[in-house]
Amino acid sequence: MKTRIVIVAGLILTNFFVNFAVATQEKLVIAHRGASGYLPEHTLEAKALAYGMGADYIEQDLVLTKDDVPIVIHDIHLETTTDVVEKFPGRAREDGKFYAIDFSLAEIKRLRVNERIRSGSGKAVFPERFPLGLSSFRVPTLAEEIELIQGLNRSSGKNIGIYPEIKSPGWHRSQGKDISKIVLKILKKYGYADQSSLAYLQCFDPDELKRIRYELNSQLKLVQLLGENRWGQDYANINYAHLQTKEGLAEIAQYANGVGPWMQQVLKGKGEDQFKISSLVKEAHAAGLVVHPYTFRADALPKYVTSLEQLLKIFYFDLGVDGVFTDFPDRAVKYLDQKN
Ligand code: G3P
Ligand code: CA
Repeated sequence: MKTRIVIVAGLILTNFFVNFAVATQEKLVIAHRGASGYLPEHTLEAKALAYGMGADYIEQDLVLTKDDVPIVIHDIHLETTTDVVEKFPGRAREDGKFYAIDFSLAEIKRLRVNERIRSGSGKAVFPERFPLGLSSFRVPTLAEEIELIQGLNRSSGKNIGIYPEIKSPGWHRSQGKDISKIVLKILKKYGYADQSSLAYLQCFDPDELKRIRYELNSQLKLVQLLGENRWGQDYANINYAHLQTKEGLAEIAQYANGVGPWMQQVLKGKGEDQFKISSLVKEAHAAGLVVHPYTFRADALPKYVTSLEQLLKIFYFDLGVDGVFTDFPDRAVKYLDQKN
């Protein structure tokens, strides 16, 4: 892995004295769903591109098929990123959604992946990205994606990590499936089993992460994702407000190695002339946790910046986060290289 060592000099001013705090930190670029700013998310093509662009870690969101195979896809349903509606009419549930868990891997392999579309309108969520309907992309399995990354590690001599996420563990359980157990088995088979593994395993559900650590006895590096209750079903019953407090972060540090906050949980916005910053990064670091916020997109910038690079500067260097999830890994790699 290409290491980026950055010297961070911080000035701490108190009423009585001045201290200079100097630390060394490795700043990570995590390819969010691959190089998804350029190619449809969670395709092997998007992952290979992210690899070539120099990402340190490549992300896999994981959902199970009917025959218990972890596939790399963001949603538990298929219609927002594939042509399932045309290929399998009549296979939706009563709510109109086509759930991956109702399809065998053989069926899912018949689907073509497209840029994410809005359900209803069918329009691209990011209209300036890869065009709808062009070329041909498939849904990869976790094993296929690991083999791609490990194969590239061998052929390039680099050592790039994986960053899998267990999606909706409670929902999988309600359908009679233990996704974490199945995923951990595959990770172990490919050599990801302890703290030294080039892998972070992430989840929004703290109970599932505790279960992964204590019941399933995983020694992997774990990351507690932080969401918002208003985002809906998977997030509604988790006390994310508490998890962001000093006490909550200390609890997370008992079972996890890091936190993945939503960008706005770190930087809440901008007042008249200064940023509104939460204490999350400072307190997470004090608890011994790394901080990897999401999601940095050149085509969906917060109002308070005018470029992705400005946003990266604020988060990497002013706020001191340890890594970022980005759809544009090339831009983050270039930015960090220029800082060195
Ligand atoms: O896992 C980090 C980030 O990807 C969380 O959001 O919804 O894109 O999985 P999401
Ligand atoms: Ca994710």
